[in-house]
Amino acid sequence: MQVDVLLGMQWGDEGKGKIVDVLTPKYDIIARFQGGPNAGHTLEFDGKKFVLHTIPSGIFHEGTMNLIGNGVVIDPVTLRKEIDNLITQNVPYTERLLISRKAHLILPTHRLLDAASEAAKGKDKIGSTLKGIGPTYMDKTGRNGLRIGDIETPKFQAKYNALKEKHLQMLERLNYKVEGLAEMEEAWMSAIEFMQDIPFVNSEYYINNALNEGKKILAEGAQGSLLDIDFGSYPFVTSSNTICAGACTGLGIAPNKIGEVYGIFKAYCTRVGSGPFPTELFDSTGQKLRDIGHEYGATTGRPRRCGWLDMVALKYAVMLNGVTKLIMTKADVLNDFETIEVCTGYEVRGEYTEEFPYDHSDEAIKTVTKKVEGWNGDLSASAPLPKALEDYIDYIEGETNCDIAIVSLGPDRTQTMVRDTQLA
Ligand code: GDP
Ligand code: IMO
Ligand code: MG
Repeated sequence: MQVDVLLGMQWGDEGKGKIVDVLTPKYDIIARFQGGPNAGHTLEFDGKKFVLHTIPSGIFHEGTMNLIGNGVVIDPVTLRKEIDNLITQNVPYTERLLISRKAHLILPTHRLLDAASEAAKGKDKIGSTLKGIGPTYMDKTGRNGLRIGDIETPKFQAKYNALKEKHLQMLERLNYKVEGLAEMEEAWMSAIEFMQDIPFVNSEYYINNALNEGKKILAEGAQGSLLDIDFGSYPFVTSSNTICAGACTGLGIAPNKIGEVYGIFKAYCTRVGSGPFPTELFDSTGQKLRDIGHEYGATTGRPRRCGWLDMVALKYAVMLNGVTKLIMTKADVLNDFETIEVCTGYEVRGEYTEEFPYDHSDEAIKTVTKKVEGWNGDLSASAPLPKALEDYIDYIEGETNCDIAIVSLGPDRTQTMVRDTQLA
């Protein structure tokens, strides 16, 4: 058996949560491999809406295990809130959720360091979600981190104290006024106690044993390829490898165990936070996309920046991830457009290129676009897609050399058109 991977092709919020939920009945295990509560994955079904930050998006299905992998960073307080939501829905989470012992913990002081670091950057700030992601991954690679498995050892409190002290010294150097830490620590320690209902596992063995037993596994990415720490629009990125390779390191799976790679993208583009976005629309068309697409962050509520589909970026993401099947979401948001635009290339200082440049924030980047006919009508999962949308799909498939297996036509589970017969 192999592990399939589903990940974002753009700057996050492509609809990963919705599609993982749709695909979950085909899998025994859904495993998150990176990121933390900077993610917000939205699921809608039976007239209800849920936003998950740390918990994999298969949690609402009976018979599927959900693993928070070693590559994830966990804030116990956020996790507890997510679980409280599950409890109100009578989801038996202790039977469906596992946490890797090697996942790292986000401390209250990591969040303060995130805020201090962003404040110090001033106008050059990353636009972080301020969930403590960057500082936690820094401690991981700096070999100072506190891990889930440490909770089970007698040294936990001492390790916590040592790391907190180090952080307080750093905050002092940054002239950051620490307020409310005692309350934050109290909630954090209480959440650590609360979490111990959930089994902690040696997840690399769990996953590989499951594979050997013939179990079907889907790895769920967070963020998107253009926020990848190595290949995204650095430094305006997150602090983990969001691309497919991250599923290997974030779960302990060998590269030859990767099966299908589902690359999910919106029919247009959005970005939340700072950083380059060549196809961004600052006019009423951008506002129209934001209004119709309800483009406001699921984690922070910030308005998302909106623009046309960027084929340079999409082809780059297909290449980096070895995408085998594409999934297009939010096609319905474009229902009401006479024409749509697509960015086919960039012009950088007079030179045409279809490569994602080294410095994506180079102000000299100009987009080369082409106009595409809009479908200008409603879409339904039970009716054939309009010709103009089929043409849009053909164009994207031709350019990326990759089939679009699913087209999502609305936020609900049922608003999904599966074009790939293997997935039907
Ligand atoms: P994720 O982070 O990739 O899981 O995506 P988010 O949940 O942050 O953002 C996607 C938003 O679009 C959520 O509000 C979803 O409910 C919604 N959504 C997902 N697919 C579709 C779709 O096909 N059409 C529309 N209109 N909304 C969608
Ligand atoms: P999902 O999984 C969209 C963005 C932030 C910021 C940058 C760094 O829901 O797609 P960080 O908190 O990591 O320090 O933020 O990355 N960002 C996301 N944007 N969707 C996400 O996750 C994101 N997670 C982080 O807005 O620009
Ligand atoms: Mg999101």
